[in-house]
Amino acid sequence: MTKAFYITTAIDYVNGQPHLGHGYEKVIADVIARARRSLGEKVFFLTGVDEHGQKVQQAAVNEGKSPQAYCDELAAAFKDFASKLGLSNDDFIRTTDRRHEAVVQALLAKLHASGHCYKATYKGFYSPKEETFLTERDRRPDGTFDPSYGEVIELEEDNYYFRLKQHQRWLIEHIEANPDFIAPPYRRNEVLGLLNNNVLEDLCITRPAARLTWGIPTPFDPSFVTYVWFDALINYVTVPASFGDSAILSLLNESDKSSLAPRPSPLPFGLWPADIHVIGKDIIKFHAVFWPIMLKTMELPLPKQILVHGFWQKDGQKLSKSTGNIVDPIAVIDEWGLDAFRYYVVRELDIGPDGNWTDAGFRARYQAELANGLGNLVNRSLSMLKRYRNGLVPARSDELASEAEKVIRETVANLRSNQLQAALQSVWSLVARANQYVDHTAPFKLAKDPAQAKRLDEVLYNLAETCRILAVLLWPFLPATAGKIYSQLGLSETPDKLADAAWGRLSADRTIGEPAALFPRRD
Ligand code: ME8
Ligand code: MG
Repeated sequence: MTKAFYITTAIDYVNGQPHLGHGYEKVIADVIARARRSLGEKVFFLTGVDEHGQKVQQAAVNEGKSPQAYCDELAAAFKDFASKLGLSNDDFIRTTDRRHEAVVQALLAKLHASGHCYKATYKGFYSPKEETFLTERDRRPDGTFDPSYGEVIELEEDNYYFRLKQHQRWLIEHIEANPDFIAPPYRRNEVLGLLNNNVLEDLCITRPAARLTWGIPTPFDPSFVTYVWFDALINYVTVPASFGDSAILSLLNESDKSSLAPRPSPLPFGLWPADIHVIGKDIIKFHAVFWPIMLKTMELPLPKQILVHGFWQKDGQKLSKSTGNIVDPIAVIDEWGLDAFRYYVVRELDIGPDGNWTDAGFRARYQAELANGLGNLVNRSLSMLKRYRNGLVPARSDELASEAEKVIRETVANLRSNQLQAALQSVWSLVARANQYVDHTAPFKLAKDPAQAKRLDEVLYNLAETCRILAVLLWPFLPATAGKIYSQLGLSETPDKLADAAWGRLSADRTIGEPAALFPRRD
């Protein structure tokens, strides 16, 4: 069976409303998913929400709601957010889905039965807020813990642990043998440094039900619930299993399968292993250390790549609800339009480093690159075609062909290597070139001189064809704008195939549609 290109995002905690970091990550994953589809690949794009654990239980308590009722509301808000962002996701997982609980319980039971887990007593420091055990090493010189852990308590309790140490060498070798497994390279080095300089402590994979009830019951011991991270990571295989992926289904017994309720018609292609897990830098250890070892012990193949993005700040400060230093992506989209948001986050921040949102920077890119750059090019090109030629596309002319083709090649190469910011830079080099072409050829002057009619035809064809190609190149990033350019050109298809970017596909003697501003100027 052939395999689809399977891409996932982190699943967001529903302990608050979606924020800029969530929006950014989902947009970059969506751009990659759309780019692959446009390149002709079968793609399956998964996103969703992480609903169990202390953080979410606490957020529900704070609102005076039951965790389930609270999660139902927030999951609906995150689903709306996904559609507000224009995501082309193929499924949306909630970790409270019955299918997910079935897979988590089946895999836990299996690990337990095959001796990968043991029960032990822990005595030491614990951060209820982060649901994390802390050691002396986590203390700062003055004896306190980082404020991000909230109140740190001392406790003594029994739990189940997952053995990690014996897989440490294997994991180092896997990362060394697969240079693209963790990207970008400095994140890979960070993980190798961690593995080479520390002995992995076994991972605590349960919490006593006596103090945390909001979790998936541990199948082999009902006095515990599953640790939220062990539960959450498994979402990436739950969905393939629910679509009938045989590698994962073969790990389940008949009763697990019946609670999983696989779809009656399985997908005609396989999903696992994932091609890309898109995540933020704070959760790299879970994805690049714990998850590969979990998969190895389940005898499942590893994902091909963990693609790690950086963190957004606003005005040089950490995003924080409590200090009010936030960017509300929904408000930005309502005010400026979805494509302006998608453009800014992808153009401003390469996948890897940290970024800084400023309202002034957002407005500046909107004005210069969207309104005066792309918007003005398309609007004046099509308006002149309308005015001087009644909207009838003139005969083909290839004056900008080689420059356009160079940009097409660069953009495709950048899309294949997930260099999204570089892809946009390359596309905008064509926007700039075409705007300069308008200024140099001055079609408004040519139009006044009947002897220049042929020259005017050439210029108008080059501009219209460049606009069409830009629509195709931009579709993964700005799907609505790309669609508008096509319809203003009078083309009824969707510009969703990169092969259509080839120069000269716009045929002569067809009539374009109505030009309209893509990005109205704001002063
Ligand atoms: O970590 N800038 O959920 P989460 C960019 N449920 N990205 C950011 C960010 C910021 N300021 N803040 C958060 C979780 N993110 C777990 C994931 S996956 C099996 C479980 C990113 O809601 C963060 O790095 O805290 C993560 O990738 C995603 O948003 C969800 O964060
Ligand atoms: Mg977080």
